[in-house]
Amino acid sequence: MTETSVVEFAPAKLNLALHVTGRRDDGYHLLDSLVCFADHGDRIALSRGGSSLMIDGPFSAGLDAGGDNLCLRAAALTGADAAIRLTKNLPVASGIGGGSADAAAVLRGLARLGHPMPDDTHRLGADVPVCLRSAPARMSGIGEVVVPLPALPTLDLVLVNPGVAVSTPQVFAALDRRDNPPLPPIPAFADATALIAWLRQTRNDLQAPASRIAPVIGQVLQALTHHGAGLARMSGSGATCFGIFDGAAGARAAASDLARRGWWAVATELAQPQIAG
Ligand code: C5P
Repeated sequence: MTETSVVEFAPAKLNLALHVTGRRDDGYHLLDSLVCFADHGDRIALSRGGSSLMIDGPFSAGLDAGGDNLCLRAAALTGADAAIRLTKNLPVASGIGGGSADAAAVLRGLARLGHPMPDDTHRLGADVPVCLRSAPARMSGIGEVVVPLPALPTLDLVLVNPGVAVSTPQVFAALDRRDNPPLPPIPAFADATALIAWLRQTRNDLQAPASRIAPVIGQVLQALTHHGAGLARMSGSGATCFGIFDGAAGARAAASDLARRGWWAVATELAQPQIAG
């Protein structure tokens, strides 16, 4: 029997590596990215009937619950009527999926309520297809090509957002090069050390232009390294950065120190995959 109300977790998306490999005639950029998900995110509760969106949570202020909201656009794509409650725990417009993760969670929830998954979910946002699975993947094209990867090693992470919103189109427009090489082949990583060694051969090509637009990103990366991150990098088009730590205690200590600067900082780890039903 199908359910009448469901709850879905919308985890933060992290681009562990992101290369910009070209640009299409329509202006969208071709990407090659290793994507994974943190065990920290938004929460979506859906129930049948009605058509409404209620937003609460620490980052709900200023969010528009009108028809332009991606959650409602996702529901409209399926033709479903649902009452949606979004608990916004992730900073908005911050390079960790945000709206795409929420839209994907709405689509997953609606599928559980009996509404088939629509095609072309990337039209809602380039990160929606990869967020649908919320499991490690190689993402390419403009975001619509998603190849699942084996589970990644356990990672102790700190996510930091300095509270500046950077415009994704502005960051792409500020790129110096758009013809970077693709990612090297992605092996099955034996442990976090092997993953970090592989990541050192890669970049986030959006990090330099985003840091020029918002220099505080450079300060966040330096602070993560200073507090012991084995690797610190920006996710997506920023401004959220992640650090990979050797152990949960070090991650927690770093997160509380960094939060004292007035930055949003959370210690977390990789999410356990939840595959769309
Ligand atoms: O699809 P999404 O809303 O995430 O994209 C926001 C903007 O980022 C797009 O309008 C486009 O300017 C830029 N973008 C891009 N290439 C991509 C994804 C996004 O140029 N692959």
